[in-house]
Amino acid sequence: MSDSNTPFITDVKTLRERARRHLDRGAVTSTYSGDVSKTIEILQNVLATEIVCVLRYTMHAIAATGISSEGVKAEFAQHAKEEQGHMAAVAERINQLGGRPNFNPEGLTTRAASEYGVGTNLVEMIKENLIAERIAVDHYRELIRFFGENDPGTRVMLEGILVVEEEHANDMHDLLVAHEGHPMLER
Ligand SMILES: [Fe+2]
Ligand SMILES: [Fe+2]
Repeated sequence: MSDSNTPFITDVKTLRERARRHLDRGAVTSTYSGDVSKTIEILQNVLATEIVCVLRYTMHAIAATGISSEGVKAEFAQHAKEEQGHMAAVAERINQLGGRPNFNPEGLTTRAASEYGVGTNLVEMIKENLIAERIAVDHYRELIRFFGENDPGTRVMLEGILVVEEEHANDMHDLLVAHEGHPMLER
């Protein structure tokens, strides 16, 4: 019985034969139903977004000063490390798809969705990070929907990143409440 809603599963023999063809395409096999060049283009922007996040958090972790800045600095440094992990994962994915990850500093801020918000004091820094995280969360949620079943590998990677960005946004929100004494954002 076959009905058009039942997902089709290729037999092992065909899978093996197909895998032997087009070895130059690496991870991009015939079941890849996304548009590879479009995916790479999107991921180059995600990569830029993550690089900007690494730079911003690293700078904040070093530049944060003032009473009670120590805990905040540690949090910024932790986030910088995690953003670096995202950056590497996205770059690896671009490479898997046959692209060359774009680490060119030229045009970086134009390619990125997030901004390099400097922030003149501790609270401003926290706010800049919260804004950047909220942009990333929105952006990645949309991309996850976009990739859907066409590129589950990219989608799952982005889902993993999204969970961490949501935590980051929550951490920044909590820090803001701790330092300003009231929630800045409506829930
Ligand atoms: Fe990130
Ligand atoms: Fe983040």
